Amino acid sequence: MAITKVGVLGCGLMGSGIAQVCAQAGHQTVVLEVDQKLLDKGLASIDKFLRGGVERGKLTAAERERTLGNLKGTTRLEDLADRDLIIEAVVENRDAKIEIFRKLDTICPPQTIFASNTSSLCITELAAATRRPARFLGLHFFNPVPLMKLVEVARTILTEETAFEDALAFVGTLQKTAIRTSDKTGFIVNRLLVPYILDAVRALEEGVGSIRDIDEAMKLGCGYPMGPLTLLDLVGLDTTYHIANVFFDEFRERRFACPALLRRMVLAGFHGRKSGKGFYDYGGATPVPNDFLVGGAR
Ligand code: 3HC
Repeated sequence: MAITKVGVLGCGLMGSGIAQVCAQAGHQTVVLEVDQKLLDKGLASIDKFLRGGVERGKLTAAERERTLGNLKGTTRLEDLADRDLIIEAVVENRDAKIEIFRKLDTICPPQTIFASNTSSLCITELAAATRRPARFLGLHFFNPVPLMKLVEVARTILTEETAFEDALAFVGTLQKTAIRTSDKTGFIVNRLLVPYILDAVRALEEGVGSIRDIDEAMKLGCGYPMGPLTLLDLVGLDTTYHIANVFFDEFRERRFACPALLRRMVLAGFHGRKSGKGFYDYGGATPVPNDFLVGGAR
């Protein structure tokens, strides 16, 4: 089945990027948000990225227009009734995801493929909550979606071959590389990335290096495009906190446990770039490390 009509659930950090790349690839894309305010915010971020692309000479003004023409925002679930593929990118919460998939299950025809962009939750559990577990899989994109070239395509023991192959072919139309993986917590990337990021926080807690030096070490010593604490600010501390808790629940290994500092930062509202503060403060022209985080009793 050739996928041409796509629905994206959620127009936040990941959902807006996913909707953008689908529309950019020529797919008729409908993106859903819970209210108009959030929808407008997400669509504005897509518009901003596309404008930036035109300014940088990465796409033409006509391609930008075409992309926006392929994209429609909605707050009504019914507008997703005729989609070939639904990609869910709502909040990283099992109950919230199950609730929206169950509703859509009664609206979309049986052949519609359901996919979750979850970073950590069990795809089988989400699939089993619907009447279409054979046409349910994971499509895991990376942040920032328009720039990152990989999508993990994850099948469960219930996913039928045709749905899996259709999803792999669909990722190819987005000019991204698909890798095949299965429904194991974290798939490939997060299984390796999450303990690394959490260890960076532990290294900071233990005084191995400053925020700036830990980031510089991995950039300059290993050639990573950004240091782990900058990356954590990009992904979101709240998101990483949830992921760590799910991983620890599954594996019961210290390397997946949430460091005390990360938990406290999340509780204090330090969610990373999106909240203006995380390991760095984003209030000024350039990010400034929040060195007071590990200053001890002051
Ligand atoms: N439109 C089109 N292209 C654009 C653009 C735009 N609006 N903005 C930037 N670009 C292009 C640039 O022109 C440049 O292209 P070039 O390589 O051909 O010159 C490229 O994108 C990089 O842009 P910048 O030079 O502005 O930025 P950087 O070089 O600093 O790279 C980055 C930014 C791509 C984010 C890089 O730092 C990076 O790869 N960081 C790591 C990100 C990462 O690890 N993501 C995964 C997170 S984990 C995850 O998401 C999983 C989840 O489950 C937790």
